[in-house]
Amino acid sequence: MKRILLAVALLALLFIPAKADEGMWLPALISQRIEDMQAKGFKLSSEDIYSVNQASLKDAVVLFGSGCTGELVSDEGLLLTNHHCGYSYIQKHSSVEHDYLKDGFWALNRAQELPNPGLTVRFLERMEDVTSAVLKGYKPAKMNEQQREALVKKNSEKLIEAAVKEGNGLKASVEALYYGNQYFLFVFREYRDVRLVGAPPSSIGKFGGETDNWMWPRHTGDFSIFRIYAGADNMPADYSTDNVPYRPKKSLKISRSGAQEGDFTFVYGCPGSTQEYVHSELVRFVQDVSDPEKIALRTTRLQIMKKYMDQSQAVRIQYSSKYAGVANAWKKWQGEEKGLRKNKVVAAKQEYEQHFEEWALGGRYEGITGRLYNLYAARNPIYRAYEYYNETVLAVEKIRMASGRNVDPKDYYQPIDEETFVAMMEAFDKGVEDIYKPEYFISQRALYSDMTEWKDAVFADESQAKDLAEALYGYYFNVLVPQVRELSNAITLTYRDYMQGLMEFEPSRDFFPDANLTLRVAYGHVQGYSPADAIYYQPVSTLKGIIEKDNPEIFDYNIPQTLRDIYARGGYENQPVCFLATNHTTGGNSGSPILNANGNLIGINFDRVWEGTMSDLFFDPQLCRNISLDVRYILFIIKEIGHANYLLDEMQVAD
Ligand code: ARG
Ligand code: GLU
Repeated sequence: MKRILLAVALLALLFIPAKADEGMWLPALISQRIEDMQAKGFKLSSEDIYSVNQASLKDAVVLFGSGCTGELVSDEGLLLTNHHCGYSYIQKHSSVEHDYLKDGFWALNRAQELPNPGLTVRFLERMEDVTSAVLKGYKPAKMNEQQREALVKKNSEKLIEAAVKEGNGLKASVEALYYGNQYFLFVFREYRDVRLVGAPPSSIGKFGGETDNWMWPRHTGDFSIFRIYAGADNMPADYSTDNVPYRPKKSLKISRSGAQEGDFTFVYGCPGSTQEYVHSELVRFVQDVSDPEKIALRTTRLQIMKKYMDQSQAVRIQYSSKYAGVANAWKKWQGEEKGLRKNKVVAAKQEYEQHFEEWALGGRYEGITGRLYNLYAARNPIYRAYEYYNETVLAVEKIRMASGRNVDPKDYYQPIDEETFVAMMEAFDKGVEDIYKPEYFISQRALYSDMTEWKDAVFADESQAKDLAEALYGYYFNVLVPQVRELSNAITLTYRDYMQGLMEFEPSRDFFPDANLTLRVAYGHVQGYSPADAIYYQPVSTLKGIIEKDNPEIFDYNIPQTLRDIYARGGYENQPVCFLATNHTTGGNSGSPILNANGNLIGINFDRVWEGTMSDLFFDPQLCRNISLDVRYILFIIKEIGHANYLLDEMQVAD
C-alpha cells in the first residue's frame, strides 16, 4: 500500500500537467483550451484565434520560408520576422560595397524593396481533422502496415488534390499527429513575391552574436521587415514590377503597453519538431552519444571557419550565414545535454515507464516500453553512423559539389573547405565503424600516408573528387538512409500504440501533439527564472544592458556609434529590449508573434534560454522560457536607426 501511495505521489509530482504552460495546441481545437486560457488572463474567444468564417488572428500569421514564422503588421502586406530568419536573404543582397549585414538596409520607398527569388510565405486557409477519411477502407485485422501506409497515402493524396483544386497558390498537406493516431489536413495559400524592406545592422539584429545566443540576459534586436506582394486580384503571383502589396484579411495591432511579470502571453507560430513522449532510451542516446559527438565535431568546424573569417571581411560575409547555422545547433545541443543531465530526465522517464508497465500488466500494452528499448538498441549504432555522415561527409563542400549538388560559388572559400576536409574526413575515419564505410573509402584511404595528402589529391583531381563523392553519398543515400528509415518507421509504429497507451494510462492529462511545423498556439505568462542556486533572472532587459555590454573591441558587442549617441542624449535607460515568458516554443517559432491578453502584438519570439533547451524532450516549467524581442524596441530602432518613419505610419499602434 505504501509503495503504491508513493508511486502515485511520485507520478503526481512528475507528470501531472502542470498548471504549467507546457503544450503547443492546434488552433482549430483551441476551444478545448480556451477556458484555461481565459482563466489565465486571455480576453478573447476561440473564434478570434482561429475561424474559417471570419478574419481571425491565424490570417495574420505565416510560415516564413521553410522554417520560420512571420506576422502581418499592416494592411499593405508588411511583415515582421526575425533578423536571423531574414539573414540569408540579407546576406545574398550583400557585398563588400553594399554590406547590408553590417550596415543594415532600409528601403526608402516601395521601388527600393528587394525581391528574394525562392522565398515564399504560407497563410493557413484551414485545418481539419481528416482521420476517418485518411483511414477510410482500413481493416486492421486484414491489413498489414505496408497496406495501411499505402492506403493512408492514397487517401491523403485524394484529399490534397481536392483541397488545392482552385489553384491560386493553394498548397495542402496531410500531417500525422500522435504518431499516426490522428490526421489533419492543412490547406495553405502560398505567396511567392516577398521583398526585403528593412533590417537593422547586425550589430543590433545579431547583437551578442554566438556569445549570447540561447542565453539570458539577452539584448538582440532580432527582427527584419519584409513585404508580401500579390497580383492585382490579391492572389499569389510570380515576382513582377506590376505586383501590388498584398492586402491581408487580418493584420496585428501593435501594443505599446509592454510585458510585465505575470502578464498573460501567447505565441502563435510554426514550431518545427518536439519529442515529448519518447522513451528514456532515446533521451539517453541524445544525452550520452548524439549531443556530445555532434558538439565535438562542430567545435572543430567552427574553429576552422572562424580562423579565416577573422582574417578577412570578404570571407566573413561569405561564411557568416553558414557559421551561424552550424553554431546555432551546436550551442543548443550543449544546453540540451546539460539540461537533460541536471534534471535527470533519463531516470525520471525510466521510472515513469516502470509505472506504465505495472499498469499495463496483462493488457495489450504490456511490454511495449521494452520493445521500444530493443528497437532503439538496434537503431542506435546505425543512427550514430548516420549522424556522423551528416556532420562530417556532408559538411565538406568539395564532396558536395563533386556529387553534383549546388554550392553557391559566391560563398565558397577553398582554404576553409580544404581544412574542413582534412579534419572531418579524419574524424569520419576514426569515429565511424568500418562496416558503415563504403569499400572505396577504406581502400583509397590506405593509399595515403595522411589525410592532408589525400586532400591534396582530391582537390587537385576532379575525377578523384567525383569518385569519392559517389562512394560516400552513394552509401549514405542508398544504404544508410534506407536502413535508418526502416528502423525509424518501426519505432514510429510502436509509438502509435504507446501513445494510445499513455492516453489511457493518464486519462485526465491533456496530450498536445508533438510539433511538426504546423500552426500552433502556446500560452503562458511573462516570468523570470532561477537557473541555479542564489540566481534569479528578471524577465525584462533594457537598453541600459546593451550599453553595459558595449565594447568596440569585441565583435559581438560592438554597437553602432549612433546608438551610443542616442543613449548619451539621455532618457532611454529603461527602453525595453527583450523579455522572457513561459510559452512552450521550439525551432520554427522564430519570428512568431507574441501577443497579449487582447491579442495585440507585444513582441517577436526568437529564442529559448540555455537551461531550458531540453524542452524539445522534456518541458520543465521552472526552467523553460522563451525569449522575445519587445515590439517597442523594434519601433525605436525603425525610428532612431532606420529613420524609416513611413513604415511606422503603416502600422497600427493599439494602446
Ligand atoms: N537560437 C536562435 C534560434 O534557434 C537564434 C539563432 C540565430 N542566431 C545565431 N546567433 N546563430 O534560431
Ligand atoms: N531561434 C529558434 C528558431 O529559429 C527559436 C528558438 C527555439 O528553438 O526555441 O526557430
